[in-house]
Amino acid sequence: MVFLCPQHQHALIPQAHDPGSNVELFRDIKAFRGEMFQLFQNRIEAFTATSTTDEPLEQYSQMRPVLDADPDIQATHKQRGVWQDRLWAKTLDDIEADRSRLAAVYHSHRQGKGSLELNPDLKIPSHQLKAKIHRMPGGYVDGLSEDGLDSGALYDHGVFLYGGGWFGPLNDELGYTIIHQVLAQHYPEFQPSRILDMGCSVGHSTLPYAAVYPQAQVWGIDLSASLLSYGLRRARTLDQTVYFAQQNVENTDFPDVSFDLVVSHILLHEIPAIARKRVFAESYRLLKPGGIMVHLESKLFLDPPSLVSRYFRDTEVWTNSEPYLGSSRFTDFPDYALAAGFTPETFNIHYATGHYAAQRGNGAAGWIAFCGVK
Ligand SMILES: C[S@@+](CC[C@H](N)C(=O)[O-])C[C@H]1O[C@@H](n2cnc3c(N)ncnc32)[C@H](O)[C@@H]1O
Repeated sequence: MVFLCPQHQHALIPQAHDPGSNVELFRDIKAFRGEMFQLFQNRIEAFTATSTTDEPLEQYSQMRPVLDADPDIQATHKQRGVWQDRLWAKTLDDIEADRSRLAAVYHSHRQGKGSLELNPDLKIPSHQLKAKIHRMPGGYVDGLSEDGLDSGALYDHGVFLYGGGWFGPLNDELGYTIIHQVLAQHYPEFQPSRILDMGCSVGHSTLPYAAVYPQAQVWGIDLSASLLSYGLRRARTLDQTVYFAQQNVENTDFPDVSFDLVVSHILLHEIPAIARKRVFAESYRLLKPGGIMVHLESKLFLDPPSLVSRYFRDTEVWTNSEPYLGSSRFTDFPDYALAAGFTPETFNIHYATGHYAAQRGNGAAGWIAFCGVK
């Protein structure tokens, strides 16, 4: 199987003219990635065989300029951007091919469960204005169309193609990972009644909370009016109730002690160090006494386990427009938590296996959860 799972074809997923074309595209991307990692591996092995030090970080800093100057590696880096652009272009083609049906579904969900509060006066932090993260056309905040359909569908369908099903049929792996692999394991009695998802985008990871805690009020906030507008329609399409609001996670409009659970999923690696620190402080401010903060990140991004993965991570910065990937050290996170008000006794770092990865029998702990109890 090329995809790890079939995509859940909810009504806002564009139907390609040729359904096999997405499989073909991902097969080519996967083959390219395989060759890329093999090339990195070969060059790194050749370098370490003659290295004068065994200390991995020292080896890395000696190796980095050598790899960066290698013509085969340079050509591969260029090709990484080309494949990423092809992925988005194909997704946009699929949207265009199915536009009238998508628009009809989209507008049919103008009314329904949940809500969306937009704030046209919100000041967008410059760190998000500067970057079109993952080279996504229009970026997260600009929006390709006024109603949000294009950017939302681009993100929703594009993320599935990017991961080849890695994030599950509805791209909801990370929400279920916090619920089943973090909360259920480490805080089994915990039953939140107000939940906040920071940097929720179109709500991929937000909907699992609405499904698993139907008694709870679930909020998702993001800077992007387009992604949130699509997120509300998507939640209604999937019959879930979520309250979306356009807010800055570093400084929200919610009063103190508003939530039992504050979460984020792969937000931290896409914002600079100062913003990460503010997210921890804001989480603490928003939690009720006894409430829990869980910020989930990829181990590959924050604490790469090998020289190959470190090189891949660091070159994503410019090949895939990930400007903040390298901007804080793993060891900074406990400092952010303590500065926010958590204590060494109430702050914990838990490693977790992805929800669908665990179902596939892959027990590797690919996720890091920064957890604090107020
Ligand atoms: C990688 S996406 C998040 C994916 C999402 N959490 C999920 O699990 O599917 C990062 C999101 O964070 C949002 N974001 C970045 N900085 C933000 C900020 N300061 N306030 C609110 N949202 C922010 C971006 O607009 C983007 O939608």
